[in-house]
Amino acid sequence: MSDNRPIGVFDSGAGGLSVLQELVKELPNESFIFFADSANCPYGSKPKDEIIALSSLISTFLISKECKVIVVACNTATAAAIDWLREHFAIPFIGMEPAIKPAAINTKTKSIGVLATAGTFKGRLYIETSHKYAKDVNVCYQVGEGLVELVEQGKVNSAEAEELLLKYIRPMLDCNIDQLVLGCTHYPFFKPLLKKLLPHNVDVIDPSPAVAKQVSKVLIDNQLNTLDAGDLKYHAFYSSGNIDVLKVLVTKIEKDAGMQLLNKSFFNNFIL
Ligand code: DGL
Repeated sequence: MSDNRPIGVFDSGAGGLSVLQELVKELPNESFIFFADSANCPYGSKPKDEIIALSSLISTFLISKECKVIVVACNTATAAAIDWLREHFAIPFIGMEPAIKPAAINTKTKSIGVLATAGTFKGRLYIETSHKYAKDVNVCYQVGEGLVELVEQGKVNSAEAEELLLKYIRPMLDCNIDQLVLGCTHYPFFKPLLKKLLPHNVDVIDPSPAVAKQVSKVLIDNQLNTLDAGDLKYHAFYSSGNIDVLKVLVTKIEKDAGMQLLNKSFFNNFIL
């Protein structure tokens, strides 16, 4: 049995495209509907209740489009809302995991850095994961204030971004980190700049490939995978705000990953 319904993916903005890129690589037969809540971005400093309300509206919209599972491609929304979403909707939800475990396992200097939003650091998941896996390592954490906005403005390679990143990673380097965990799905767009700014011994850890593998497992376990959609598969993109940045970043992920997303369509959606 093949289930050809699409997979829903949402983020506070366009950052979740970094997760979509890995999902498409892992699940080439699937169709995807991506929702960027760019009108309400950033979520990082919003109260938990507001993030739950927005995530609930987006999920209702994606389910109305027949999505069979939903990927919360946003660490902040995962931290604030995933428990609530799982309680209130019948389909499976997969969220972002803070990649503290692989960082704590791989560090040789016994010092790791985590860059995320204020909301993510406050979440149960981050606190539990840190206690569980990072007891014996020094964790140098930093709120990436202003970085999400730069991605939303399409300034991923700007001097402004370089300056801000340097400000955030300098104290981490002073702590001798050799692992940098990206705890926000907007930040992988800064990987080229980070590569330039970080010494060679520092690994940048993006949890997206592991999340894509988890989505694949959930589909198989629930017999929800598309066996062969052929030319019928599609990639639809909705934004509650500026659709132009979404278009530019979609082209960028296609180029970076050397892939062509079939049957693309872009829509503005002002449900929020
Ligand atoms: N991409 C979101 C995340 O992973 C950004 C959060 C925000 O909008 O502040 O947390």
